[in-house]
Amino acid sequence: MIFELKTAELKSIAQSKTDALVILVPNDFKASRDALSGLIQDVSQAANFQESAGKVVSLWKPAQVDVRRLVLVSCATSQPKHMRQAVAAALGALKATQPKQVTIQLPTAGHNALTAAMQAASDATYVYTATKPSAKPSGIKRVVLTLPTAQAVKDAKTEFAYAQALIAGVDKAKEWANLPANHATPSVLAKAAQSLARHSKIRCEVLGPKEIDKLGMGAFAAVSQGSAEPARFIVLHYQGAAKTKAPTVLVGKGITFDTGGISIKPAAGMDEMKFDMCGAASVLGTFEALAHLQPAINVVGLIPTCENMPSGTAIKPGDVVYSMDGQSIEILNTDAEGRLILCDALTYAKRFKPQAVIDIATLTGACVVSLGAVRSGLFSPSDDLAQALLKAGEASQDLCWRLPLDDEYAEGLKSNFADVANVAGRDGGAITAAKFLQRFVGDMNWAHLDIAGSAWKSGASKGATGRPVGLLLHYLVHQSSASPARKAA
Ligand code: BES
Ligand code: MN
Ligand code: ZN
Repeated sequence: MIFELKTAELKSIAQSKTDALVILVPNDFKASRDALSGLIQDVSQAANFQESAGKVVSLWKPAQVDVRRLVLVSCATSQPKHMRQAVAAALGALKATQPKQVTIQLPTAGHNALTAAMQAASDATYVYTATKPSAKPSGIKRVVLTLPTAQAVKDAKTEFAYAQALIAGVDKAKEWANLPANHATPSVLAKAAQSLARHSKIRCEVLGPKEIDKLGMGAFAAVSQGSAEPARFIVLHYQGAAKTKAPTVLVGKGITFDTGGISIKPAAGMDEMKFDMCGAASVLGTFEALAHLQPAINVVGLIPTCENMPSGTAIKPGDVVYSMDGQSIEILNTDAEGRLILCDALTYAKRFKPQAVIDIATLTGACVVSLGAVRSGLFSPSDDLAQALLKAGEASQDLCWRLPLDDEYAEGLKSNFADVANVAGRDGGAITAAKFLQRFVGDMNWAHLDIAGSAWKSGASKGATGRPVGLLLHYLVHQSSASPARKAA
């Protein structure tokens, strides 16, 4: 989809040649004397627009404008949340007639309002077609965003570019996450990562089973050993600042299918375990966005990727394996495989002496129970890092919520036969998983995002959400604006 950003006053927009005109009406809307303003005033009173964002009134060829479809939608304020609700509702109302070009009049940009509006437009028109040739792509091909003044448009140029990069990244994350497991195997995922290296500033290395063994990644190799598909360890580098500047490392869980292994999962809904690589997809998506945006920062992306399968060569409950950092792990449940591949990736991350390392994983069903689909689980011993990520979540409307890491939660991970067990009891399952990971981070500045509930939707609208690319990109770029490298440029 093509986005454009233009200046338009209500008076002139009434004459704009567009298939559909969407007007976001804030609570503080002030009518001037033109006919369209009067109409907006009447409608917003009659339909109680003041009550909430996302109330829609659509009109067919109203006398006051020169367009076929006019959609008035309440947006309360220009907070990102309201912008998103309003644009999503308006484009929902346009689904039936599928105009080619839509013009959306925004009250303001800035403070992430434009980004929220554009992302909502992109989300509303996303259609998965990769393995569904019969699916009809959205008819909306062009979205023109208008702001009331030339100055507002000028001020919004940077945000417009940011939003376009973000949308490309979120789309990429969705696309890879949605692909079935027989299409997105570890080696195909590695090829996707390698193709990112066509962009300037991006490099990619891919390691196979031999190199994984040589590095001593015994926990990662153990998960992979039951599968016919070879594992891959993907290392992406985005270098936008001087080599001496410490990178942020993103680690994405890339289980392309999670059967549970010998501790096999129930059949119902198991298809959704193709989404167990959404952490990996979010790293690919974030790199896609970085490629577009080219910020002055350094980022490393690490993706351990394999299948978790039951077979004659699979790991068995009670098996003890050695992680890359030498700790022995008793695998009491082969379905707790995410932490096994991540612990070795975290050990690998140490070589980059990162300023922060953030792992992103569809790690536990327990996180879905505690936070549902609204907020991702956030864990970090660092208040600063946690605050920065919470803030990035709010700004991007890609929300997360901090959960605790008290040492008492690690009690259940004790084993009689190894340094640590890979599962504790049922209680506090998202936290005990995080405590397992924490054993491998050493003195790195670390955060863990459990995206098991937020990365995809189930039911009729089953599909990936592209989260938490919005949160990650906001966090990374915010760092860059505070960095001397950017100021000097
Ligand atoms: N990929 C799953 C977590 C998951 C389950 C995400 C359901 C989204 C929906 C993970 O590998 C897993 O199976 N975790 C187990 C851990 C348990 C054995 C301690 C779980 O959550 O049941
Ligand atoms: Mn599992
Ligand atoms: Zn899993």
